[in-house]
Order: sequence, then C-alpha cells, then structure tokens
Amino acid sequence: MAEELYRPGLEGIIAGETEVSTVEQDSLAYRGYPIEQLAEHATFEEVAYLLLHDDLPTVGQLQEFTRRVDAHRNLPAAVTDTIARIPPQVPGMDVLRTAISMAGHFDQSSGGDREQLVEQAIHVLAVVPSIIATRLRLLDGKQPIDAKPGLSHAAQFLYQAFGEEPEALETRLIDLTLILYAEHEFNASAFAARVTTSTLSDMYSAIVTGVGTLKGPLHGGANEEAMRLIKRFSSGPEAKAWTEQAIVDKQKIMGFGHRVYKNGDHRARILEPLMADLARQRGQQNLLDVYFAIKDTIWERKQIHMNVDYPCGLTYYLMGLPIDVYTPLFVASRVTGWAAHVIEQFTNNRIIRPRSRYVGPALRDYRPAAQRG
Ligand code: SDX
Repeated sequence: MAEELYRPGLEGIIAGETEVSTVEQDSLAYRGYPIEQLAEHATFEEVAYLLLHDDLPTVGQLQEFTRRVDAHRNLPAAVTDTIARIPPQVPGMDVLRTAISMAGHFDQSSGGDREQLVEQAIHVLAVVPSIIATRLRLLDGKQPIDAKPGLSHAAQFLYQAFGEEPEALETRLIDLTLILYAEHEFNASAFAARVTTSTLSDMYSAIVTGVGTLKGPLHGGANEEAMRLIKRFSSGPEAKAWTEQAIVDKQKIMGFGHRVYKNGDHRARILEPLMADLARQRGQQNLLDVYFAIKDTIWERKQIHMNVDYPCGLTYYLMGLPIDVYTPLFVASRVTGWAAHVIEQFTNNRIIRPRSRYVGPALRDYRPAAQRG
C-alpha cells in the first residue's frame, strides 16, 4: 500500500506546484519579485497585472490594463438593486459573496482559455471595490457613486465610498494594503479556489469559493476581529491583563500566528511602521499603546508573531473605515491572487481529490428499525 501521508490541516504538505508566489521564512515574492520591492516601488495595478500575467507590465500594457478595469467598474443596475435588498445587518463578506455572484450573471466573457479567464478576472477586480463602496453608501442612506475615470484603484474605492477624492496618504495606505494582501501561495482560500477550478467549474464559482473561505476569523476575517479586540481596551495595562488571561485560557488571539511563518510575517513588518505614523499623526497614541500591549504580551508569553491582519485592522480603523469592510477589502486585493491560481489550475489541471483515513465504525449488518435501540 502506498505510504500514507497525513498531516492535520495538511500542514507542511506540498499539494501542488505554482509559479505565482513563494512564501518562505526569509522571503515572500510574487512571481520572483520580493514583496519589499513591490511594496516600495509598485502600484497595486502593476501587482495585479503581474499576478494575472507573467511579468510586470510595460507602460503601454499598464495603460491598457487600467483601461479594461475602468471599463467594468460601474455595477449593472440589477447588482445595485440586489445589494440594496440585502438586510442591513448582513455582514459585508456575505454581501460580497452574493453581489459577486450576481455580477457574474452579467459578465459576457465566459470561456476557459487564458485570455477569457484574464478578462473575467478583470471584471471581478473592477466590481469588488464598487460593490463594497455601494454597500457602504446604501447603508448610510446615500446614493451609490459611479467611478471617476483616471483615479487609481485605491483612490477609486475611497472616492466611490466617501464621494470625494482621498488624500495622498490614505490612497497610499490603501494601495499598500492591496499590494500586501494580493497573493500568498496555497492559503486556505486560494487552495479552495483551486479545488473548485480543478473540476473544470468556472472563474466566478472559484472566486465565490474564495470569498466564503476567506471570511473565517482564522483566515481573512482576522483583520476585523483583531480591530474589535483592540477597541475593547482603554489602556495598555488593561489590554495586557486581558491578554495574559487569554493566553492562560488558551484562547486564539486574532491577528497572531501563521501556518507557515514562524519568524514573523514580512507583510506585517512592512505595514506596521506606516500604521504607527498614521496613529501618531491622528493623535491616537492610546490605540497604539493597546496595540503594542497585546502584541508584546503575546510575544513575551508565547513567542508568537503578529500576521498581516493585526496592523491592517488598525490601519483601516485609523482611516475611518467601518470594521465590516476590512475583510471585503482583503477580497478586493486577493481576487488577483485567487484568479492567478485559477488560471494556473485551468491551464495545467488534474482534479484535486485527496484520500481520507477511515476512523469510523467497523463493518456491520443492517437491522430493521424495530430491532434497533
Ligand atoms: C491569514 O495561510 C495564509 O497564508 C493565510 C494568510 C494569507 O495571506 O492568505 O496569511 C492570511 O489568514 C493570516 C492568519 C489570520 N488568522 C488569525 O490571525 C487567527 C489566529 N491565528 C490562529 O488561529 C493560527 O495561528 C492560524 C490559524 C493562523 C494557524 O493555525 P495553525 O498553523 O493550525 O496553528 P495552531 O492553531 O496549531 O497553533 C500552534 C500553536 C498552538 O499552541 P499549543 O496548543 O501547541 O500550545 O500556537 C498557538 C496555538 O495555541 N497559537 C496561538 C495563536 N496561533 C497559534 N495562540 C494564541 N493566539 C493565536 N493567534
């Protein structure tokens, strides 16, 4: 019998080959480009192009790519109507799951060849920020705002959400989080999207699979839970006391730990200093005290590092974004990584179907109901 390879949660198991990214203790790179260089020099549009193709775009390719994304930003009326019909208490990730599905019914670019898949990915990339912004406006009793041609992807979201062109710093921070969130190898949602793709389903089904998977607080939902945690405390000492007790009670603290990174999350280290600068600029030293009290206590007691979701939650909060859009913003970025994996899976596919180890009852005979119990 073939050697049984079983690891709970598939920890450490190589479940496929990819050219999209590498996630290692000492580096994170998208198609060979180190995240530190992309974070410092690239725009999210360049990173999106890189993930959906095989290299960074030329000036002309970037202009054409941006034009194609802009062409699909405004939502079909039926999608806006759908969003308006969803009860106000429904979480943002559930709204996104429904609205992306609805938008897919109006995307004429069906088909499974590479160019058609890239076109579908561009449609999804374009509508997700519009869906998030439209939901925000409707919940606020305001009318949705159409996209303004010429704005960057990051600025476009803020413009459609708040009705005015954002400051450069806020645009830069959104753009940076979109770059940092874009892709991360076989994380749970990307792998789930690949499983869906491996049956030769379709791009929208794979993206909706990703949304449903990323929602969980052990995955993308952690950026919202991390911010809700920080908001609970009014001082560093209070946060420290709670954290010490939580560790004694073996509670999972959202925004910390990672399946792969054991020496820290490269993305969190890039984002944290900019987040801290913003907090000081906005007179929010108290939030920083709580942030570092939780982080330092977890490190002292368990030597566990923060992951990208921990500084990201506070970054979005300092920008005045409602907590319910944090994981949807993660989706606005990660649709590029998911689509890259979907395209890769489609173009070199074998259905993903692992085995399981049976630990249930031994073989036994059927008994009529009257003889049971
Ligand atoms: C993302 O995979 C990716 O790449 C994901 C992601 C991406 O870009 O796609 O990076 C994005 O999802 C980041 C992770 C966001 N999730 C959270 O912040 C939720 C909190 N974190 C944990 O639930 C946990 O760390 C996971 C889910 C991230 C990883 O789970 P593992 O690898 O199964 O680790 P584990 O639960 O087995 O924990 C190992 C040990 C345990 O201690 P012991 O029982 O052995 O004593 O570390 C402890 C855990 O108790 N631990 C934590 C902890 N995370 C791990 N203890 C307290 N708080 C935590 N957050």
